[in-house]
Amino acid sequence: MDIECTINGTERTFEVSKSELLLDVLRRNGYTGAKRGCDTGACGFCTVQIDGEPTMSCITPVTAVDGASIETIEGLGTQDDLHPVQKAFVDHSALQCGFCIPGMIMRSKALLESNPSPSEAEVREALADNLCRCTGYKKIVEAVLDASESMPPAEGVATDGGSTPADAESAACGDGCTLDRRSEQDLETEGSP
Ligand code: FES
Ligand code: FES
Repeated sequence: MDIECTINGTERTFEVSKSELLLDVLRRNGYTGAKRGCDTGACGFCTVQIDGEPTMSCITPVTAVDGASIETIEGLGTQDDLHPVQKAFVDHSALQCGFCIPGMIMRSKALLESNPSPSEAEVREALADNLCRCTGYKKIVEAVLDASESMPPAEGVATDGGSTPADAESAACGDGCTLDRRSEQDLETEGSP
């Protein structure tokens, strides 16, 4: 069957089977910024926005997005022109391996679009379903709060880390990222975070 949807502002039609999940279809069609961690809706690595709502694509039937508008990390900024949330993650060195970052950023962007000035408690609550296995959450929360002050009502997030600024920019951009790809291979080999 065919599924028609809008991804990052572009209308797309995908040939899918009824039993497929959105994450599989996205990744098969080049949207590899959404990561596969647990594959059970427990880690948030695969988070994208569907009609503005942060959604775990690994447990979303692809049939549910027929006619929907989907945003993935590829639709945000580039390494030369980061989205405010991406920039905040980089500025706060809020990541290490970067594997969780696309999901963190999409979740944070959704939060800031619905609540432009969240409290720290609200940021922590919003990110509760997004896990990071290699860093603390302090820098991530700080990045989201920073993004809430620096961007026009709608976007932001980050992780804690030890990467160089250049590494951080790559990871924050989702696809086209050496750190992401290496980490993704590691996780897919290991199975879960
Ligand atoms: S891969 Fe989707 S929630 Fe973990
Ligand atoms: S899993 Fe979050 S930076 Fe590595």
